[in-house]
Amino acid sequence: MNEHDSERIAGLLEADGLVLADSDENADVVVFNTCCIRENADNKFYGHLGRFKNIKEERPDMEIIVSGCLAQKDREQIAQRAGHVDVVVGTHNVHRAVELLHESRRNGPITEIWDEALDDADTFPSALAVRREVDWSAWVTIQVGCDNTCAYCIVPAVRGREISRPFGELVSEVERLAADGVREITLLGQNVNSYGRDLTSARRALNPAHDDFEIAGEQWLADRRARPLFADLLIAVSKVDGIDRVRFTSPHPKDLREDTITAMGTNAAVCSHLHFPLQSGSDRVLALMHRGYTAQRYLEKVVAARAGIEDLAITTDIIVGYPGETEEDFVRTLEVAAEAEYDSAYTFIFSPREGTEAALMVDQFCDPAEVGDRFERLRVVVERSALAKHMARIGRTEQMIVEGPSKRDPEVFTGRTAQNKLVHFTSDRPLRSGTLATALITEASTHFLRGELVEVLSVSQHRTRFAVTAG
Ligand code: 5AD
Ligand code: SF4
Repeated sequence: MNEHDSERIAGLLEADGLVLADSDENADVVVFNTCCIRENADNKFYGHLGRFKNIKEERPDMEIIVSGCLAQKDREQIAQRAGHVDVVVGTHNVHRAVELLHESRRNGPITEIWDEALDDADTFPSALAVRREVDWSAWVTIQVGCDNTCAYCIVPAVRGREISRPFGELVSEVERLAADGVREITLLGQNVNSYGRDLTSARRALNPAHDDFEIAGEQWLADRRARPLFADLLIAVSKVDGIDRVRFTSPHPKDLREDTITAMGTNAAVCSHLHFPLQSGSDRVLALMHRGYTAQRYLEKVVAARAGIEDLAITTDIIVGYPGETEEDFVRTLEVAAEAEYDSAYTFIFSPREGTEAALMVDQFCDPAEVGDRFERLRVVVERSALAKHMARIGRTEQMIVEGPSKRDPEVFTGRTAQNKLVHFTSDRPLRSGTLATALITEASTHFLRGELVEVLSVSQHRTRFAVTAG
C-alpha cells in the first residue's frame, strides 16, 4: 500500500511538471513516504530525515514532504522534531500533497492530517493517474483501511476503517489499464477477502429488505449474486482482455472462503500464489492476538487451497516474541510452519506500537536474547521448506514475466513465475521487460531459481517513450 501511495505522489508531482531526479540528494523536492508498522521503520525514517537536515542547510531551496502512516501517527510531532520539513500529509489526504506544497511556498511549513477520507474519489484515485514503476504491471487498490483488531497492529489506527471501492469502477479501471499495456495487476487491500462487506452493508442500510440476507436460502443466494465479493471480483478482472496475471495481497486466514479458492483454481490468469499470514502457530497466542482462527483451522485452509489450486505456492508472515509467548507456544509455531511447508516467509520480531493493545503488555515482553534465538530457529525451518520447494522445480519449464536484466550481470535476466518465484536466467537474445517467456530451471536456492530461456511466448507490446534526434 505504501509503495502504491509513493506512485500516487510521484504521479501528482509529474502532473505538476516535475521529473524524477537521478538521486534524492539532487532533488528539489524530496518525499519521505513513511511506514510505521514496526519500530525500526520509524527509527530509519528519523535517521534519514536527520541526514537531509544537513543537505538542506547547504541547499535551503530544497523542499521536503513527509507523508504516509508515520505522518498520520506522529502528526505535529514531525514538524516539532524536524523544522526543515515543509509539508506533513497523512494517509487520508495523499491527494493533497502537491497542493500543500504550493501552499507551504506561500505560507511556510504546513501539517495537514485528516481523520478520515471525505469521499471515494480521494480514497481511490485512478491507478492511471499514478507514475507506475513498470509499464506492464499495476497495483489496484480495492479496499483501504482495516476493520480487524489484531492486538499488535497499528494499521487500523493509521489507515482507518475498511472502505471498498465499487465493483464496476474496479473492473473498468482494470480494462483501462489493460488498454494501456498492463498485463499483470495486483489487487491491494489489508484484508482482501472482506472486500465488498461494507458495500453490502451500505446497501442493506438503504434497503431494509436485505437485512436477512445472511439466512441461507434462496433469498440469500439472490442477494449473493447481486452483491460484489472478492471471488466475484477475482473472476471479473481475470477475464479482462489483455490481463494475463492477477495477484492479490493480503487475504486474512479467518475470511478465506471456498469460493476464493475455486476462483483461483479455475481462472488461469489468477496466479498460483497465496500469501497467507499465520502470525503464530499457538492457539493461545492467536487468541491473544485476536486473529480469529486456530492453527488447526488455518492448516485445514492450507490443505483446501493446495487441493483446489494446482501448483500453489504459499507464503506467510510470522511474528516471533509476541508478549507472553512461551517456549511451548513458539514450538507450536515451528510445528505449524513445518507442516504448512511454506515457499517463503516474512518473519518479524514483535515490535510494540504505541496505542495498540499488545504494547500495553509490557510486563510480558519476551527476553530479547530468547527472541533472537527463536527467530533463528524459525528461519531454519522456513528455509528448509523453501529450498525443498525450489529444488523440486529443477528440470521443469516455468512460465515467467521478464522483469529486466539482472542488476549484477547484464547477460542474465530476471523473471517472475506465477508462484512469485524469482528466476535468474540466461538468454541468447535481448528481452523487453514485460515479455512473457519460459525458462528451463537448472538450479535452485532458498530465495530464487536459476535457468535458461526456452521460448518467448508474447513480447510486451507496450510502447510509451520515443526520441527523435538529428544526425
Ligand atoms: N510487530 C511485529 N510485526 C508486525 N506486523 C504487524 N504489526 C507488527 C508488530 N507490531 C507484521 C505482521 C503483518 C506484517 C505486515 O507485519 O506479520 O502481517
Ligand atoms: Fe493489521 Fe490485522 Fe488488519 Fe492485517 S488484519 S492490517 S494485521 S489489524
